[in-house]
Amino acid sequence: MIEAIDLTKRYEESTLALDALNLKVAPGEIYFLLGANGAGKTTVINIFLNFVEPTAGRALINGVDVTADALEAKKYLSYVSEDLMLYGNFTARQNLDFFARLGGKQGLKRDDYYQVLREVGLEERAFEQKVKEFSKGMRQKVGLAAAIVKDAPAILLDEPTSGLDPKVGAELMETLSELRSRRKAILVATHDIFRATEVADRIGIMKEGRKVMERTRGELEHEDLQTLYLDYMRGGFRTDMRTGTAGL
Ligand SMILES: Nc1ncnc2c1ncn2[C@@H]1O[C@H](COP(=O)(O)OP(=O)(O)OP(=O)(O)O)[C@@H](O)[C@H]1O
Ligand SMILES: [Mg+2]
Repeated sequence: MIEAIDLTKRYEESTLALDALNLKVAPGEIYFLLGANGAGKTTVINIFLNFVEPTAGRALINGVDVTADALEAKKYLSYVSEDLMLYGNFTARQNLDFFARLGGKQGLKRDDYYQVLREVGLEERAFEQKVKEFSKGMRQKVGLAAAIVKDAPAILLDEPTSGLDPKVGAELMETLSELRSRRKAILVATHDIFRATEVADRIGIMKEGRKVMERTRGELEHEDLQTLYLDYMRGGFRTDMRTGTAGL
């Protein structure tokens, strides 16, 4: 479970980057967080990763407060970002091995890594190739594989499909669906409305640090997400912050 309770962030003297955000991602759920540039999506993720301290409110992973108990919370978390920190001089398999050990996983064999690399759709010939020779899509697959190897119950992704070709983007989403069926709680910060419509179980739209809309897949069945999104960005809706629902 990923949970934000009245999460608030003010960077120094600037305006609120996050304003009492409430959000929950249950095991087996994919949550897509949409919003304009600067809406606060990455700030949410960075607080969960303990890269950034909240000004107020709490961020919990499996009930563990990420600020109060950072080391414990990290065990339950995997992270995939747009520009991943992989080791260029290591092969795909060596990177997985490195991150597995870092995450406290021991006893994994070459074939275990190969199996995960297959699962994310990396070509076999790249398994023992140095990552510095990889395209962005290939690197992104290794990053997701590292998250899978860690086998944490919560996975955070910041702009995971940015710059990926449609096929690689689709493969990434298939992997996320597979992880959902393994009961992972998955939070994706993105601008990708198309993918949101395709795979998200729940979608939140952020604007200026607040969640202005939240709907389930079922609730969005008869609505066009892009139209709805643009309506919120243009300020055509009044938001009820208690329920996160809106009326005209
Ligand atoms: N380290 C920082 N120091 C000061 N202000 C920051 C910092 N990081 C983010 N901000 C500010 O906080 C607000 C939210 O930024 P954030 O990066 O969370 O938005 P975002 O929704 O991820 O945007 P994007 O879609 O462009 O990635 C912005 O106004 C940004 O300028
Ligand atoms: Mg961002």
